[in-house]
Amino acid sequence: MNEPYSPTAPRPMSSTSPSTMKMFMCFLTVFIVAQTIGTVLFCLYLHMKMDKMEEALSLNEDYVFLRKVQKCQTAEGQKSTLLDCDKILRGFQDLQCKDGGASKERPKFEMQKGHEHSHSKGKNETAVAAERRQPIAAHLAGAKSSKAVSVLEWRTTGYAPMNSLISYQDGKLKVEKAGLYYIYSQVSFCTNAKASAPFTLYIYLYLPMEDDRLLLKGLDTHSTSRAVCDFQSIREGGVFELREGDMVFVNVTDSTLVNYSPGSTYFGIFKL
Ligand SMILES: *[C@@H]1O[C@H](CO)[C@@H](O)[C@H](O)[C@H]1NC(C)=O
Ligand SMILES: *[C@@H]1O[C@H](CO)[C@@H](O)[C@H](O)[C@H]1NC(C)=O
Repeated sequence: MNEPYSPTAPRPMSSTSPSTMKMFMCFLTVFIVAQTIGTVLFCLYLHMKMDKMEEALSLNEDYVFLRKVQKCQTAEGQKSTLLDCDKILRGFQDLQCKDGGASKERPKFEMQKGHEHSHSKGKNETAVAAERRQPIAAHLAGAKSSKAVSVLEWRTTGYAPMNSLISYQDGKLKVEKAGLYYIYSQVSFCTNAKASAPFTLYIYLYLPMEDDRLLLKGLDTHSTSRAVCDFQSIREGGVFELREGDMVFVNVTDSTLVNYSPGSTYFGIFKL
């Protein structure tokens, strides 16, 4: 009785042990897989969260920077020794320069900044603002007149500038803004041996109450033995301090000799 039992007795022992082992192994595998998936998901979540945090942090930095710029714009902010306004404003300007498409508000903003912030960097910023503004300049071509005139007449050309701060009337260019101006003119003309007096080109400052003031003068005594006319040009230019409303004009000794072919006779001015 003992004999047949004894071989069966260890059998259940040995058969239950592998199945338990199998179950345990299964459970362990599932557990490990679940753990791995869980860890990966958690890492992903953490990563996303970190990204968001970083973004928020950089936004906060931007905000602080903008607040500093805003403070530096005010007089009290500039007095504050805690803020390095020079550095902050320079940084802000660099950013604006990098951003090529400047909006219309920016030059205004910079001009304002240039006024308030008039020490050390002030000049630099106003210069930048001036560059962005429309340059004050005019360039005119000679306009032929049938009779001899004491003031040469001019006309605008398609390609050349004519700023609203410079007006033209009766041969004179009038500046609406005081400052340093470069004034230039070229007149081409035709002389021959018969011409007695030298041909002279003058640029005058028009003064209604007193004698007009001579600014520039150029003469040409050159003449050939040929009877036919000999084309020549006189060109002159210089920098002058003009007041608001000042007018300048050009005249020559004999306006009937002036040549008006394109590009040969012109008169212009621009603000430095
Ligand atoms: C103006 O600023 C630029 C850079 O911001 C600098 O290189 C230049 O020297 C400055 N010019 C003057 C006149 O301060
Ligand atoms: C040129 O203008 C000046 C100043 O008005 C005047 O004195 C001079 O006579 C003019 N010259 C000629 C040739 O008209």
